[in-house]
Amino acid sequence: MKNLIGTAAICFMLLSSAGCADREYKDVSVIPYPHTVQVSGEPVALPEKIEISVKDSILLQEAEFLAAGLASSGFETSVSASGMHAGIHLAIDWRISDEEGYRLETGKKRTVIYGGTPAGVFYGIQTFLQEVAGGTLYKGTIEDAPRYRWRGFMLDEARHFSGAERVKQLLDIMAYYKMNRFHWHLTDAQGWRIEIKSYPDLALVGGRGSHSDPDAAVSYYTQDQIRDIVEYAAARHIEIIPEIDMPGHATASNRAYPEFNGGGTEQFPDFTFNVGKEGTYAYLTSVLREVASLFPSPYIHIGGDEVYYGIEAWKTDPYVQSLMKREKMTDVREAERYFMHRMIDSVSVLGKTVVGWDELVDLNADRDRSMVMWWRHDKPEYLDRSLSLGYTTVMCPRRPLYFDFIQYGEHRWGRIWDGFCPIEDVYSFPDPWIEDLTDEQKSHIAGIQANLWCELNHTPERVDFMIFPRLCALAESAWSMPEVKDFSSFEDRLEDAYELFDSLGIYYFDTRNPEHHPEPAGPEIRKAGKQKMDYRD
Ligand code: ACM
Repeated sequence: MKNLIGTAAICFMLLSSAGCADREYKDVSVIPYPHTVQVSGEPVALPEKIEISVKDSILLQEAEFLAAGLASSGFETSVSASGMHAGIHLAIDWRISDEEGYRLETGKKRTVIYGGTPAGVFYGIQTFLQEVAGGTLYKGTIEDAPRYRWRGFMLDEARHFSGAERVKQLLDIMAYYKMNRFHWHLTDAQGWRIEIKSYPDLALVGGRGSHSDPDAAVSYYTQDQIRDIVEYAAARHIEIIPEIDMPGHATASNRAYPEFNGGGTEQFPDFTFNVGKEGTYAYLTSVLREVASLFPSPYIHIGGDEVYYGIEAWKTDPYVQSLMKREKMTDVREAERYFMHRMIDSVSVLGKTVVGWDELVDLNADRDRSMVMWWRHDKPEYLDRSLSLGYTTVMCPRRPLYFDFIQYGEHRWGRIWDGFCPIEDVYSFPDPWIEDLTDEQKSHIAGIQANLWCELNHTPERVDFMIFPRLCALAESAWSMPEVKDFSSFEDRLEDAYELFDSLGIYYFDTRNPEHHPEPAGPEIRKAGKQKMDYRD
């Protein structure tokens, strides 16, 4: 895998011999567009030997990150912990109040990147590298800070497994565009993708199969691999939030440990955990204890979505019925709520905050211990209620932020639902959607996130095609204030993203020329799976 900074650095070198600088561009070519740009338009040429200095030793990691990328592309770099000589200087400036904010001052001989924290400096570095790669490194000052603190992307590896190398490349690109939350959907009906030492068959048995092939080879992440990826993400200021979906979407787990199976329906067999068995709570708490120890994030996502696909079975399950009798419940939905409350308790005891899909709004859960992801675009009342009840809320509505929806009218392999998710709609999100919310409601919005479900995304080409370049639009919607957003400027700046994607071998959808990379076909489904009516095919 090519290194992103290395790629930028190639242009860096060319720039000094006037290669990338040829392009006419009136503003800086940076995605997401920064808040305040005061540049002269006078290009700055950089030397081939670059000295990187830091004022504060906590910035050594940022300096090494920058230097390693430059060195891998043939630059001579040096990092020193003192001085403020020519070259690139990194410093903390406590006056920058936003913890991810930065100020980038570019002069003829010296560039200084100030941040309120190392994360701010890191984002200043990304802006700098993009300016260089796009040939728009100008004398002047850029001051910047994000609109939202949650700038997320979710990848579903349960339906089809991508693997560590692909995930790391995605993390690289997310960081380059200043995204900071990776939501990892690791378990679902079709596969369990994380090693749990106390229940090894979760990975060894539950990890077999995929959405398109129930006999696909076992694939999952070992705990060592997870730790490595978590560390890789952290070095890029990305927090990873694991999702262990419950009490629905449990089929893979039930294959491994059928004693906790709560049943399902003919279309979705073995879909739920058995919420009536006491052992289920101990089992899932043990799983979550291991998960909690692997991920430093303060959050664990426990799903909670679409339980209705399998809940019918609870009406006749003797254990669920006995629980309902004991607790004087009259409806299986009450058993679902009971389960979720107990699991929220378990997550709290593990010192974490629960994240759940927007079904959580119906639970009357404690808002200090839980956070909501609003996904049902056809139920805007759930966003309204979530915010009115004071839940910290991430907005990821299917339209326009489910990247398994098609992005172009002539595409066939992806979802539609009274429309689809073109890049323009990702770019304009969230403003038209939130304009009727009160300021109090808006204050509970943590940010936005796009989700890639992978039922139909079974190859690297398909995964790339659905993510890129919509991820760039998402990044700008999450970071940039509405007053600096402009779709036609964004399209100009996408040219540099396409150049980067070409250099990395990414199979993106080319908005300039839809024929450039034809739409890759989805998988043949070997066994009737969760193929819903809203797919084109
Ligand atoms: C979801 O799409 N079931 C959260």
